[in-house]
Amino acid sequence: MTDEQALIGPVLLLDDLTPAVAELALLVLARGDAVPPPAVLDGASVAFDRVATFDRVSVWRAPLRVALPRRFSYRWNGVDYPVALDLSGDCRLAYVSCNGEEHGDLDRDADERNVMWKRLAAEHDAAPFALLLHGGDQIYADEVKDGHALTRDWPVSVPEKPDPAALDGFRAHLRAGFGARYAALYAMPGFATLAARVPSLMQWDDHDICDGWGSLAASITQSAVGQTLYEVAHAATLAFQHGATPKTMPARFGDAAGRHLGWQVKAPGFRILAPDLRGERQLDRVMGPAGWAFTREAALPAEPGHSFLMSSAPLLGPRLSLIERAMRWLPGVQKYEDDLRDQWQSYAHRAAWIEMLDLVRAMTDDPAARVTALSGEIHLATRAEMRFESGKVLHQLVASAITHRPPPRAWARALGALAALGEDPIPRAPIRIHPLPGQRQRYQAERNALVLTRTGDAWSAVWLLEQSGTTPPLAL
Ligand SMILES: [Fe+2]
Repeated sequence: MTDEQALIGPVLLLDDLTPAVAELALLVLARGDAVPPPAVLDGASVAFDRVATFDRVSVWRAPLRVALPRRFSYRWNGVDYPVALDLSGDCRLAYVSCNGEEHGDLDRDADERNVMWKRLAAEHDAAPFALLLHGGDQIYADEVKDGHALTRDWPVSVPEKPDPAALDGFRAHLRAGFGARYAALYAMPGFATLAARVPSLMQWDDHDICDGWGSLAASITQSAVGQTLYEVAHAATLAFQHGATPKTMPARFGDAAGRHLGWQVKAPGFRILAPDLRGERQLDRVMGPAGWAFTREAALPAEPGHSFLMSSAPLLGPRLSLIERAMRWLPGVQKYEDDLRDQWQSYAHRAAWIEMLDLVRAMTDDPAARVTALSGEIHLATRAEMRFESGKVLHQLVASAITHRPPPRAWARALGALAALGEDPIPRAPIRIHPLPGQRQRYQAERNALVLTRTGDAWSAVWLLEQSGTTPPLAL
């Protein structure tokens, strides 16, 4: 792989957007003592500052300020990178999720692993994307915490009172692991091409920390070991996914210290709202008070135009609570319990789910408002609709995964059968799960990505499916 590459990147991030200015961050990862040369924008040199160091890998950031979001190019390390950041008219956005696998992700054949990244990069070459949205599991960090004595029995038990030296050693182990993993991922073919040319916006999910974070027993997540894992994963997410520290949070975030990572970006005629469904999660809650307060405040009052709600776990889904309850009584399947607890449809989150759906309905109160939910997480492609009493339809588009291989087709069929039951958590607003355009099954078990296109005022979506190709467009 690219272990000896001293400089990795660049990765372009959107910090914030106002009608007059796009604040961008150019990220470069440097191994050892390497220092990235400056970037050049509009003839001016822009130096990099070091954001953080994770063992051998440092994160460097150069601010790029672009007046009136537009097409422009910047130069770095001898290469010109064109950027199509014009969001005022017709535009295309890409959405991906689940960039990895739990075991051996970095040992996979790079061509096979990144086939959908490369396809998305080819799409960008044909007609450029203005933004690249990452809906969760940007990395699979599960193996980072492995290989240390303190996590030998994770997630069943952890040492209750590890001595401070052991905890320091664990922290160093984690920092080295996160640094190495991000460096490897950010150098992957396809990803690197897109990340340098399309401004990214990211919202984390469990694997950016560890499998099931927040849906595991409190004795694990609240332990000194669990809290150390969270502390390092949080710092790594801020540095590598947002080019930030708790002292330098970009303006789009709701919490200036990054205690939850909810954010919102507004562009002409549309906005993207991404609540943090992971950072404050516990067994009996999806978000904490701060996350909820931000989400409510950001969502309302309803606005004309299109709202894209990034909900890392699908907002609309089948009655998974049935399976979840059954599982409690079936031997040997409890290890999937945290996966079900992660869902809005868990019986433990039903009140929160209804509250969120009511909030989304209120977001459509403006006559010219439309809402589309974007989700990942399930390693399948699917879509759903919720028809409100007003006649408006909440579309939910699920695109997962960009590199994680799909679960068995039997699981997709079982979910499809369960989906036939329907689910009406709020009265007179039925949820229906539908096949993708041109497909017969409700759940498509192949790797995929989503492309959103605005033509005039109209938005549409297509899925890029690994085997089945590009779907016909779905009008939103
Ligand atoms: Fe995932």
